[in-house]
Amino acid sequence: TGLVVAMDGPSGSGKSSASRGVAKALGLRYLDTGAMYRAMTWWMLEHGVDLADAGAVAARAAEPEISSGTDPDSPAIHVDGVDVAGPIRGDAVTGAVSVVAAVPEVRARLVAMQRQIIGDGGIVVEGRDIGTVVAPEAELKIYLTASAEARAARRNAELAGSTMEAQQAALARRDRLDSTRRTDPLSMADGAVELDTTALNLDEVIAEVLRLVKE
Ligand code: CDP
Repeated sequence: TGLVVAMDGPSGSGKSSASRGVAKALGLRYLDTGAMYRAMTWWMLEHGVDLADAGAVAARAAEPEISSGTDPDSPAIHVDGVDVAGPIRGDAVTGAVSVVAAVPEVRARLVAMQRQIIGDGGIVVEGRDIGTVVAPEAELKIYLTASAEARAARRNAELAGSTMEAQQAALARRDRLDSTRRTDPLSMADGAVELDTTALNLDEVIAEVLRLVKE
């Protein structure tokens, strides 16, 4: 079976760019599991599901038809045939995704889909619970970290029009929601290698992961 590289870490740790870069360099597929949680959230908002009601979210978690591409050059995400690559990055989804991702029925369905996509491997998988839950058998598990300031600065560079302070506050809020929920909090997997990206640029992060793959 092919190589599986698990890339976990909080927002702004540089996960997405690094994961895509590693996949491209190695000719592997790429899966963004965060995009799947965002797609599920987009669908719930679109259908007027009351997100404060975990039972209501759970009851409808099996409905959306989510399809996730694995080309690192153009990651595609569709829900019920609609291209949602743009809308899933909007404020509405970003503000709601942690709540939806905390619902066990949502996680169970998406984890099962993720395992199916991973299949025989040959893939870099990005998320928060890849090394712990989705693919604990992965040959290489990376846990990316960065200082709060570096993470907010990266987010700020991605999203024009909001202040650094606002970005830092929003990230801190999402971290808190992600790490205090009962199901699958972000935590370092057994055997994971921690990589602090605070002082590294993208090429340096990719080079370090490639070096670890070759070890
Ligand atoms: O890149 P960023 O951290 O902003 O977010 P993302 O990777 O797109 O993930 C969005 C949200 O989905 C996270 O804040 C988590 O609540 C959730 N998520 C999760 O619970 N498990 C994963 N494997 C990936 C994402």
